[in-house]
Amino acid sequence: MSITTRIGIIGSPVAHSLSPTIHNAALQSMSLDITYELWETSEKDLSRRISMLQEPNIVGANVTIPFKQKVIPFLDEIEGIAKDIGAVNTIVKRNGKLIGKNTDAEGFMMPLTAELRRIKLPIEKTQILLVGAGGASRAIAFALAQAGSNNITIANRTLEPAQTLSNALSTFKPNLSVDIETSIPTLEKFNCIINATSVGMTGGPAPNQQPCALVEINSKTLIVDIVYAPKETTFLKTARSLGLPRLGGIPMLVHQAALSFEIWTGKEAPLNTMYAALEKVI
Ligand code: ATR
Repeated sequence: MSITTRIGIIGSPVAHSLSPTIHNAALQSMSLDITYELWETSEKDLSRRISMLQEPNIVGANVTIPFKQKVIPFLDEIEGIAKDIGAVNTIVKRNGKLIGKNTDAEGFMMPLTAELRRIKLPIEKTQILLVGAGGASRAIAFALAQAGSNNITIANRTLEPAQTLSNALSTFKPNLSVDIETSIPTLEKFNCIINATSVGMTGGPAPNQQPCALVEINSKTLIVDIVYAPKETTFLKTARSLGLPRLGGIPMLVHQAALSFEIWTGKEAPLNTMYAALEKVI
């Protein structure tokens, strides 16, 4: 009798995570005998939870709020950009070792790169306004810097996290121009504005609001919102009414999942199945 292989998401709270929906649809569509589970974990149980990953039928895990940084000391190795970001969202077990990786960064860059190509804006020429300086913003900022962005302005209502992120980015890429603001600057000079806060998210601290008013904006500026619920945020609706190019949070969510799926299974992720599974619940 074979024992079903397990993967899960470690965090708190995880009950509303969409990852099981995405991954179980993908795993089932490929007839893989793997189940993706919710592993609600308190801070005091984090160490025990990571030890559990050594069970032979577990291949890995996702990590989410509030453990993306806290999990690092419990892992054997940290690979790739996860080391620079200082955050892990994917763990894979390789030869008995727990390896930490970050697919949020590349998962964000894949759809962004496609959209930049579509609107013929080379990444080197982007003038980015990144609103927010939390965990999501950090992954995005490093991904942008690594992919070739040269100019990033971080706007966050609180100075300290913006300053910390700016310092880390400058160490990572010394020739990157990084500015920080504690209010939204005039938008004219930016050709890509990214909401990396939870503003606009259903059930979040500021639903139906937008991270900044889209005034005095260049007519070709790309508007990006990492919020995926609702599918079209107020920010994206405003961008649509202005005829601006835009990118929502769902492609990023799907691509980070797809990259994790490929790390665990070694197989190409069924992107269409993942999108379809999400469509049913968002
Ligand atoms: P995540 O991991 O999703 O990025 P986080 O690390 O808690 O979550 O960061 C949330 C980000 O959204 C922060 O930049 C936060 O700003 P502060 O550092 O000033 O707290 C930002 N944010 C949350 N609610 C906001 C609001 N109502 N207006 C503006 N920014 C907000």
